[in-house]
Amino acid sequence: MNYRQWLEQASETLNQANPYENGKNEALILLQQVTGKSRTQILAFDETEIDEKVRSNLTALLARRLKGEPIAYILGEKEFWSLPLNVSKETLIPRPDTEILVESALQIAKEKLQENPPYFGILDLGTGTGAIALALASELRPICEKQQTELNIIGVDLIPEVVELAKSNAEKNQLSVVFLQSKWFEKVEGKFDLIVSNPPYIDEKDEHLTQGDVRFEPLSALVAEENGYADLRHIIEQAPHYLTENGVLLLEHGWQQGQKVRSIFQENFWQAVETVRDYGDNERVTYGFWKR
Ligand SMILES: C[S@@+](CC[C@H](N)C(=O)[O-])C[C@H]1O[C@@H](n2cnc3c(N)ncnc32)[C@H](O)[C@@H]1O
Repeated sequence: MNYRQWLEQASETLNQANPYENGKNEALILLQQVTGKSRTQILAFDETEIDEKVRSNLTALLARRLKGEPIAYILGEKEFWSLPLNVSKETLIPRPDTEILVESALQIAKEKLQENPPYFGILDLGTGTGAIALALASELRPICEKQQTELNIIGVDLIPEVVELAKSNAEKNQLSVVFLQSKWFEKVEGKFDLIVSNPPYIDEKDEHLTQGDVRFEPLSALVAEENGYADLRHIIEQAPHYLTENGVLLLEHGWQQGQKVRSIFQENFWQAVETVRDYGDNERVTYGFWKR
């Protein structure tokens, strides 16, 4: 069997199993992963014969995908904000939705940096792969170096293996972020100009937990008590102790949680509370300023 024949067969099987996904694209990704060849090389030399070893590796990966395992877990990698990130089954696969949080945080950070502060601190709670912290580091480090602002970005996660994963991603992308194990603020010291978080916010009874990629992701990254609001509430209540004057907290939340999240901010005396919508026009990120 050659590349072309395998691609045709695998695409058809994948399309039958997952009609909403692009079987041809996924088959190509799997073939790239096993052969180490680029997409162009595979398509240009599609008469290349597949040997037994490659064939059995392809069969194994295809079987995992047919059971619904996310492509990112099969590849061990996912791109976020143009950064290649290692992923693991101990935390969430970074989502494009979260780029809205990064964009909003960057806008606020850049405004604050115009004042040329000597120091700028950012805390990312529930950092997972380190996606948010690393994206912010990649954008803000050059600005801070130019104007000689000392930038300190810290990412924390509850799970020690996840902290190691985030550290591996900092190394992989040669970005300087400090990652440590902490239950939310428990081991955090000092004050920050920005606190960002994409915490677990799904209700444990939510039917989406039994569908698609999330079936393979850990509940520790997805589910929160109090119908999904417990971690969001805890962070909103505690963040003021860790923010500088006029510091900002930005939280990602579910698309139907905007109103309730705004009201938790307001009950806790946050100022200028706003919600940002994602590209699907859903409420996705809420932020507020803390003034003493
Ligand atoms: C929704 S995932 C977000 C991961 C990453 N920030 C992202 O946006 O892709 C939530 C993360 O919070 C972590 N987490 C859950 N409970 C936590 C806690 N009490 N303290 C710190 N981190 C926690 C999980 O391990 C998980 O990595």
